[in-house]
Amino acid sequence: MVLPSMRLDGKKTLVTGAGSGIGRALAVAMAEAGADCAATELPEQMHTLDPVCEQIGNLGRKAVPVPLTLPDIDSIDQCVQTAAEALGGIDILVNNAGINLPREALEITEADWDNVLDVNLKGLFFMSQRVARLMIPAGGGKIVNMASQNGVVGYYRRAAYCASKAGVVNLTRVLALEWARHRINVNAVGPTFILTPLTQSTFDDPELRQDLLARIPLGRVGQPEDVAGAVVYLASPAADLVTGHTLLVDGGWTAL
Ligand SMILES: NC(=O)c1ccc[n+]([C@@H]2O[C@H](COP(=O)([O-])OP(=O)(O)OC[C@H]3O[C@@H](n4cnc5c(N)ncnc54)[C@H](O)[C@@H]3O)[C@@H](O)[C@H]2O)c1
Repeated sequence: MVLPSMRLDGKKTLVTGAGSGIGRALAVAMAEAGADCAATELPEQMHTLDPVCEQIGNLGRKAVPVPLTLPDIDSIDQCVQTAAEALGGIDILVNNAGINLPREALEITEADWDNVLDVNLKGLFFMSQRVARLMIPAGGGKIVNMASQNGVVGYYRRAAYCASKAGVVNLTRVLALEWARHRINVNAVGPTFILTPLTQSTFDDPELRQDLLARIPLGRVGQPEDVAGAVVYLASPAADLVTGHTLLVDGGWTAL
């Protein structure tokens, strides 16, 4: 057998921000690949996990809904403990949850800046740290971080967002280096614009939509499912020798 497995049979996965958009597709994709899945949501949006958990259950996999508010450390600790107890450990962490507040740089407030950096970067770091502390005695694991193409190129009205995602790209390298000896692979995915509740208003603006499409050589915006293959690959045995990498799912945007 030469082709390494891209299956995740029997693996225990924690996916953050799984009630909406990309995270919802990722949680279901992990289950389709054979994994059980703890799926997180903000406490006030836990109901959005109902259809996700139902889909995972229909695939014959275990689904565990868990509340999580990033970057609150108590909430992170509670979430990781609940997920690990319910699943019997965590083999794969998908740090998907994130926010964007599109604003001109001249208009960004301190609260805007802190909010975006706190959720996208600080929250992701402490989730990774807490889960890595469980993975190390268990013999290793896989962490996949949600960066963005906007972590490697700039785009208008996204100063805080681009800074946070560039932080995710380089944080991914550092964690990969530090945790390689513990057999934890740390990688990231960098999608182009994907049609989700986060980007709906952008796509509703015909001028913006045209601008985005003109920058994507493959000629279409992404769907959440487009990101799922990259994440499942990086979480799978097929990517055992891949670490510190950001896999761009950008339709060629950054190749221009
Ligand atoms: N949609 C895109 O075009 C695109 C492109 C590149 C990267 N991304 C990234 O993909 C990820 C998912 O984005 P999406 O488009 O699916 O967005 P979305 O708004 O549909 O989903 C975001 C998820 O994160 C959760 N979340 C938000 N704030 C949180 C907090 N403080 N604590 C815990 N959970 C929180 C939300 O409840 C939701 O489940 C984000 O990290 C985003 O930056 C999105």
